Amino acid sequence: MKTILGIVASPRKLGNCELVVKEIARNIPEDHRLELIRLQDLSVLPCKACYRCLFDPMRCIQKDDFQLFLDRVLAADGIIVAAPTYLLGANALLKLVQDRGLACYGHIEALWRKPAIGVGVAGIPGREGRTHLDIYSFLKFLMTDIKSVNILYGTLPGEVFLNGQNLQTAAELGRALFAPAKPAAGQTCPICGGNTFQFLDRETVRCMVCSNAGTMRMTETGPVFDIVSGAHEMLRSLDDLLAHRLWLQSMKQRFMTEKDRLKTITRQYREGFEWVRPQAPTDSSSTDSGDTVSAAHSEGQRMA
Ligand SMILES: Cc1cc2nc3c(=O)[nH]c(=O)nc-3n(C[C@H](O)[C@H](O)[C@H](O)COP(=O)(O)O)c2cc1C
Repeated sequence: MKTILGIVASPRKLGNCELVVKEIARNIPEDHRLELIRLQDLSVLPCKACYRCLFDPMRCIQKDDFQLFLDRVLAADGIIVAAPTYLLGANALLKLVQDRGLACYGHIEALWRKPAIGVGVAGIPGREGRTHLDIYSFLKFLMTDIKSVNILYGTLPGEVFLNGQNLQTAAELGRALFAPAKPAAGQTCPICGGNTFQFLDRETVRCMVCSNAGTMRMTETGPVFDIVSGAHEMLRSLDDLLAHRLWLQSMKQRFMTEKDRLKTITRQYREGFEWVRPQAPTDSSSTDSGDTVSAAHSEGQRMA
């Protein structure tokens, strides 16, 4: 029996994201059990950019629930993630977890190409902003085989399935999870399926997911993106990921070599400013204001 991990990025219980994940899972033809994680239930701190997770024992040093999350991803056979659009992008809980993704580089072979489906739920058609790109990148850094990322619309909890077409889409996504990948269709990158492009000049575009460039031409049925795989391509093969890990690890040595030169720059920005920091609570029970500030600060960074 396969284990499916459903990642619900919305804090809303029985909200659209939760329903979508469950409906997709219901339609997976393969025998499976569904395990759910609501990101809001986890305490995940922001990445500290220390790079320690890239070196033996290849674990993040922070004591929080990220490892629990990663363990569940590692144990899963397939992944479904659904995130709500908040202010033109996937909500921040998704990015908070994604930012810890350097810790995934310790498990490249185990994570590589687990089948995955992503869904963004937005309230208003056309107001999803960068949600598609956000979900694509989240799944890319979990090193999954992204079968499809879709945007569905619905505002009130449950509303997403007032529209029968969305039920049908969820069913198709369920069937797609373990099926062979279909070639990218429509106005998407033919290499990776991304649908967000940067114009480099009048006709040259870059796919914001795989970083490959190419041209865009207009046809009777709409724009076609002739993107070609090139040296700038990002993380599309296992070898590429392993090479990227080595490159990341080499930053430590580079830092040691460049440390003094870098200091001549950074020291010029050390003083002459005031940082705004939260005040320690005036609660009479708090005696050590330093500890209280840092506790309040880290509390503010918790996901829950
Ligand atoms: C803080 C907040 C910001 C939102 N911003 C957008 C937005 O920019 N565009 C949009 O189409 N919908 C937006 N929505 C609507 C949600 O995407 C929509 O209600 C979605 O169904 C929520 O999913 P859920 O039920 O799983 O929480 C926003 C909702 C909230 C709470």
